[in-house]
Amino acid sequence: MIVLGIETSCDETGVALYNTTPWENRAPAHLGILGQALHSQIAMHQEYGGVVPELASRDHIRRVLPLLDEALEEAKLELKDIDAVAYTQGPGLAGALLVGSAFAKSLAQGLNLPSIGVHHLEGHLLSPLLGTSAPEFPFIALLVSGGHTQLMLVSGVGQYQLLGETLDDAAGEAFDKTAKLLGLDYPGGAAISKLAEKGQSGRFELPKPMLHSGDLDFSFSGLKTAVLNQVKKFEALGLSDATEIATFHADLARGFVDSLVAVLVSKAEKALKQTGCKHLVLAGGVGANVQLREALNASAKKQRYEVHYPPINLCTDNGVMIAFAGALRMLAQNNDSTRSGAFDVKPRWDLASNNLA
Ligand code: KG4
Ligand code: ZN
Repeated sequence: MIVLGIETSCDETGVALYNTTPWENRAPAHLGILGQALHSQIAMHQEYGGVVPELASRDHIRRVLPLLDEALEEAKLELKDIDAVAYTQGPGLAGALLVGSAFAKSLAQGLNLPSIGVHHLEGHLLSPLLGTSAPEFPFIALLVSGGHTQLMLVSGVGQYQLLGETLDDAAGEAFDKTAKLLGLDYPGGAAISKLAEKGQSGRFELPKPMLHSGDLDFSFSGLKTAVLNQVKKFEALGLSDATEIATFHADLARGFVDSLVAVLVSKAEKALKQTGCKHLVLAGGVGANVQLREALNASAKKQRYEVHYPPINLCTDNGVMIAFAGALRMLAQNNDSTRSGAFDVKPRWDLASNNLA
């Protein structure tokens, strides 16, 4: 079965074609990726300091068709070769989701194909299965994106149990807000990470929120406020030496990353202990972060568990993860998809509420 995947939940338009044959034959899942095309709107939103929903929707409309052509060309396929259409049904920006849903449903109806709405986070948390060292079920997923921070017990495709989540800012949101405070462009996650590499650990001992809360929940808004307080204190000194300012920014970025990573690693270890799982999966945009990966690798060695990552280009939003998650769901529920033409998006949507029976 060849599944077309369409992702339009936020500021990336992603289109991909996935062939389920390798998965069904227990061959490495990444062999099923036939073609993929992606357009990031980051440059367009940058001048506003964040995503402008209306601009995002309009850009998805402009991009989705040429991206489909590009993906088909790479896969050397034609529309008639597609067997099903998967699209991101939620969560995300309502208008942006509607573009993907309308496009996917119209195409499916025109080609007389089934369509399936996919939960965006399911796309993220199954994407490590497309990596070179794929995990086995059950595993713990540490999902860290721009909109979510969750620890999830994954027992199988469509079998998810939420163990803990952030009570306020998501990890990616904390990265982006901190980046703004340090004068970096949106979405500053990767830039903070780079800056932190030049910084010195220990100059700023920032709080590690909820490290000892005893549960698996997170809170990152206090950490961002702690960064703001340091910035204000530094600005009050009125220093103008460029090197001193650059060092301050790098050391503060390092302190921020150290705190955030310490909390994420500690809670992931706790989730593994609590459930007896031996496999951890890192997913979502912040999963591209090198400091987090280094810390998880060290923890895995010490605590004797295995950690699995999606291919780096599949950490942030993309069409492949939606095609893949849609395909696995269709296989798991015997192709139970829909031929209804209704554009039914879910801007707010709990993943566990969508479990398979
Ligand atoms: O999963 P994603 O592409 O979109 C959502 O579903 O939210 O995640 C985007 C987030 C942004 O907040 C971005 O700053 C963050 O992932 N991010 C990173 C890195 N690359 C992307 N954060 C830390 N380090 C990175 N290398
Ligand atoms: Zn995402």
